[in-house]
Amino acid sequence: MTMRQDILTIEDVKLLVDRFYEKIRVDELLGPIFNERIQNRWPEHLEKMYCFWQTVLLAEHTYFGSPFPPHAQLPVGHEHFLKWMELFVPTVDELFTGEKQQKQNGVPQNDRNV
Ligand code: HEM
Repeated sequence: MTMRQDILTIEDVKLLVDRFYEKIRVDELLGPIFNERIQNRWPEHLEKMYCFWQTVLLAEHTYFGSPFPPHAQLPVGHEHFLKWMELFVPTVDELFTGEKQQKQNGVPQNDRNV
């Protein structure tokens, strides 16, 4: 059995992002919102999200975008945010353990962080 460890490398970040969006894409509430907006741009979106989480988790600054504007246009509210967290936190926990895994449970803390 492979031992879980912390989120330490870009390979770890890619594993997390890939696994998370596999769940998002088939989720009844969030899947249609993502799929409708992203359509055939999933490879680009995943690349962008690798950079975003690489910046947040590994402090390797490869994301230079602004997350807020794209979300301001979306039909999302508190329930969507809660669902996002409900999918994200267990994905981190099932793959990793350690300081960064712990930190992820509190990030992001509310809708205003998007
Ligand atoms: C309420 C649940 C959420 C939904 C439905 C959602 C949906 C989306 C969609 C559809 C895009 C693609 C926009 C586009 O390229 O056209 C996007 C981009 C993005 N999302 Fe979310 N999102 C959610 C929550 C979050 C949260 C909690 C975070 C951060 C922790 C986040 C971070 C990002 C980032 C960094 C991008 C890329 C922005 C850019 O530079 O273009 N999202 N999101």
